[in-house]
Amino acid sequence: MVEKFVVTPWEVSGKVDYDKLVEQFGTQKITDPMLKRMEKVAGELHFMLRRKIFFSHRDFDWILNRYEAGEKFFLYTGRGPSGHTTLGHLVPWIFTAWLQKKFGVELYFQMTDDEKYLIKDMTTKQTTAFAYENALDVLACGMDPKKTHIFTNLEYGKTIYKQAVEIAKHVTFSTAKAVFGFENSSNIGIVFFPAVQAVPCFLPSVQAGRNIPCLIPAAIDQDPYWRISRDTAPKMGFYKPAQIHCKFLPGLGPEGKMSASDPASAIFTTDTPQQIEKKIMNAFTGQQPTKELQRKLGGNPDICSVCQYYYFLFEQDDRKLAEIFAGERSGTLLAGEHKADLAERVKRFMAEHQKRREKAKKVLDKVMLKD
Ligand code: TYM
Repeated sequence: MVEKFVVTPWEVSGKVDYDKLVEQFGTQKITDPMLKRMEKVAGELHFMLRRKIFFSHRDFDWILNRYEAGEKFFLYTGRGPSGHTTLGHLVPWIFTAWLQKKFGVELYFQMTDDEKYLIKDMTTKQTTAFAYENALDVLACGMDPKKTHIFTNLEYGKTIYKQAVEIAKHVTFSTAKAVFGFENSSNIGIVFFPAVQAVPCFLPSVQAGRNIPCLIPAAIDQDPYWRISRDTAPKMGFYKPAQIHCKFLPGLGPEGKMSASDPASAIFTTDTPQQIEKKIMNAFTGQQPTKELQRKLGGNPDICSVCQYYYFLFEQDDRKLAEIFAGERSGTLLAGEHKADLAERVKRFMAEHQKRREKAKKVLDKVMLKD
């Protein structure tokens, strides 16, 4: 039986088949020769590339070509501020901070307080307030405050709107409908919104008065937006923005991505050590229902959320990771100790993150762009 899965900017569900997604979306897989090249240019390979957590791209090789020819790119990524930040959101942001450091480039970070207002039962006051909370997490990931520019669409609206209108003129309703599945019942704000998310792909070029290559690191759910941006770019005389896509950190339940809208399945950067411990101790593992059976039959690390957390964030040493996976598979690793060890690591990580988050409050004002 073929398992069904859904990946859109607003929903990720089911067991995602990433190979199929590359085919469906028409992106390219990241290849080993490309990684070799990246290692040469950056001086090292981030574990998220080595493990192909960042697994797909559009024109990433072109970005490297331009860079090697002496042309710097800028990074663009973002967040829909509908709640506090989860560990899932940190996956692309930690990688973005690494890219920024290795290539010494500027980062533009869009907070879509407008998008979340349009699709959620929230006020604009709430979404903008979460944008400021989320921005602390962005900075806590190690972005360089001197080279990072964060803005909310509602507060930077005067600058954003002009560009959005110019982009929107080149996007027909039938294209937007085909890409995003809009229906007659969709509000017209969200139908216009893809033009707004496209703006930062080009804004630095507009402001500099010359074309600057753009690289977008994000999970693959955001890819539909880039189809619109890439279609319109040549019509407006801009470079097409390039992308590098990551997989989804799963939730703590049996299926789907870690999502802020399912609080029990998600660990938030504002969680207390007790909350983190409780969520992880209740997590779904790939183990047998009893200790005896687990010892006898072993489990399945590929569906075990605890193993996936080591893989995505909490064990960066490949040899140690292989030992954890082997322990789960052979039955020597039991769920209780497996979860307790992860809980310790996540609590330690979060204590450090929360300290950096506090420090970020001091620089936040300087980093935020406003009209
Ligand atoms: P949002 O808030 O849904 O997600 C923010 C970023 O986190 C990624 N992401 C994940 N990555 C790994 N594992 C997960 N479980 C997970 N869940 C979410 C998303 O792909 C995204 O990179 N419309 C956007 C906001 C936005 C944006 C952008 C995102 C505006 N401009 C440019 C990326 C790039 C949104 O609602 O993201």
